[in-house]
Amino acid sequence: MSDPKEAAKRLVGFAAVDRYVEPGMCVGLGTGTTAYWAIKRTGERVAAGEKLEAIVTSAATERLCGEFGVPVVPFMSRDIDVAIDGADEVAPDWALTKGGGGALFREKAIAIAARRFIVIVDDSKVVDRLGRFPTPVEVVPFTLPWVEREIAARFPHAKATERIRDGQPYRTDNGNAILDCAFGTIPDPRALAATLQAIHGVLDVGIFLDLADAVLCTADSGVRELTKA
Ligand code: 5RP
Repeated sequence: MSDPKEAAKRLVGFAAVDRYVEPGMCVGLGTGTTAYWAIKRTGERVAAGEKLEAIVTSAATERLCGEFGVPVVPFMSRDIDVAIDGADEVAPDWALTKGGGGALFREKAIAIAARRFIVIVDDSKVVDRLGRFPTPVEVVPFTLPWVEREIAARFPHAKATERIRDGQPYRTDNGNAILDCAFGTIPDPRALAATLQAIHGVLDVGIFLDLADAVLCTADSGVRELTKA
């Protein structure tokens, strides 16, 4: 593969499936360009005769499962043995920013429900503190002006921008809007997430706390498991 970044994503996506997925398991499959490789690898193992099933975090991932031949079952129809997903940022305590692909709400549901949640990233996603990547906030569209006003009142230095795709307001699989909120460095992600979540109209915040059980990261040409601070 000629693109080194894509090669790194492939390496870590394949490694997660090969290290954590055992025959007969139900796998929670994430969304995004890194999770893509975990989906592909799961498909290869199904094609080789393994009985695996998936619970998916988005319509896009469901489509990829169809393409790669991975059987999909509904959320909560069986236990999720392991969930594998990418992230936009990973802090030393494994606090995550997620939602760059807009799938944060279902991703969090599956991360919470799974017995184990494995995060896969390339080393560009590892940060000292969250905040370099704007925090995605999923908002019920009717309440968007209210949520924008509340965020501006509570965080005067933040810049909250409605996500636009192809010239149209972006809508999640749940029919909601995304506000990408640039707060700058986030000293206390727990407090920030709680404040945002308390605003009426906010469905979910793309800050994932205390959910990851392992973080696999590509470094040089290998994969390493991060140690939690
Ligand atoms: C989607 C996500 C993705 O996991 C996150 O955006 C990382 O994506 P990529 O692997 O494409 O960089 O949270 O909602």
